[in-house]
Amino acid sequence: MQTLSTTSLQIRDNQLWILDQQALPQEKVWCPTPDVATLVDHIKTLRVRGAPLIGLSASLLLALLAEQGMAKPALAEALEVLRASRPTAVNLMNNLDRMKVALAQPDHIDALVQEALRLIAEDKTLCDNIAEAGLSVVKPGSRLLTHCNTGGLATAGVGTALGVIARAHQQGRVTQVWVDETRPLLQGGRLTAWELGELGVPYQLITDSMAASLMAQGQVDAIWVGADRIAANGDVANKIGTYSLAVLAHYHQIPFYVAAPHTTLDALCPNGAAIPIEQRAAEEVTGVAGSFGSVQWAPENARVYNPAFDVTPAALISGWVLDTGVVTPEQVAAGIFQP
Ligand code: MRU
Repeated sequence: MQTLSTTSLQIRDNQLWILDQQALPQEKVWCPTPDVATLVDHIKTLRVRGAPLIGLSASLLLALLAEQGMAKPALAEALEVLRASRPTAVNLMNNLDRMKVALAQPDHIDALVQEALRLIAEDKTLCDNIAEAGLSVVKPGSRLLTHCNTGGLATAGVGTALGVIARAHQQGRVTQVWVDETRPLLQGGRLTAWELGELGVPYQLITDSMAASLMAQGQVDAIWVGADRIAANGDVANKIGTYSLAVLAHYHQIPFYVAAPHTTLDALCPNGAAIPIEQRAAEEVTGVAGSFGSVQWAPENARVYNPAFDVTPAALISGWVLDTGVVTPEQVAAGIFQP
C-alpha cells in the first residue's frame, strides 16, 4: 500500500504504525501493528483511541492483511474480531461495514485497499467541514471548555470539536480554552493539552470537578465535545463526564455543542439507552498508569464502577455540529437523524 501519514497513523514499508497515545506527551513512540491481535490490544489499551481513529486503523490493517495474502475467510474473521474491540464508538462498525462490502468484491484486495484509503481521505474532509460548520456558532472572544481529546490525534484530519476550536482560534475568535483533564485516563490532561500547545492555542488545564465553579463565575462561553455515537433521537454517548458538563451548561445557560462526522450517527439506535457502554478495568480508577509511571492510591480490592462513556440526552444539546452543517434541536425533534 502507498505510504501514508496522519497525526497518529502511518503506513510505511507496507506496515501499519500507530502513535502510542498512552505514551504521549512524555514520549513519541510509533508502534508497529502487524496483526489483528496487536491492533486489538492497542485499541483496548487506548494506544489507539478516538471514535474515528479506531475505525480507520482497523480498516487500514484489514487492507494490509489482504495485500499480504490473508485469505477471504480469515479476513472476514479478522473483521469481526476488530469490530468487537470497543463497543461504544459506532465509527468502527460503520467503517467495517464498508470494508465488508469491499471484501465481498471479486477483486477484494484492490477493493479493500481503495476503500481504506477512501475512508482516510474522507475523514480528513469530514474534519475540515466540521471545523467550517462550527465556526458559524463560535462568537468572537470566546472562552471555550472541552472534554477528552477530539483533535488530530483522534482522527485522520484536524479533529472534530478540537478542530472547530483550532479553526476558531485561527480566526481570532477564541481567547481561552479550559481543558478538562478527563479522569480516569486523562485524555484531556495528556493529549488535548499537548495538541493545543502544539497548535499555539492558549489553554488552562483543570480537573473535571473545577468546571462547575468556572461556569458559575461566568468564565465559560460555550462547551465543545465530540461523540462516540449519536442515536436517532439525538442522544449522544461520549467520554464519561460529558453528561455532567451538559447538565451544568443547562443550569448556567451556556451553549453545549457536540461536533462529529456523520460516521458517528447510528440511525438504527433509537436512543441513548440503547447505546452499549463499555465498562473498563478497576485499576483505571484505583490509581493511574502511564509513561510517567504508575501508582495505586485506593485500598487493595476496592470495588469500582468504571463506565468509559455516558449518555447526554438530546434535550441538553444546543447543536450537533456535523460535516453537513449545524443541526438544531428543532431539526432533531423533527426526526432528521431517524432512518
Ligand atoms: O476512550 P476514548 O479516548 O477513545 O474516548 C474518546 C472520546 O470520547 C471522544 O470524545 C470521541 O471519540 C470523539 S474523538 C473525535
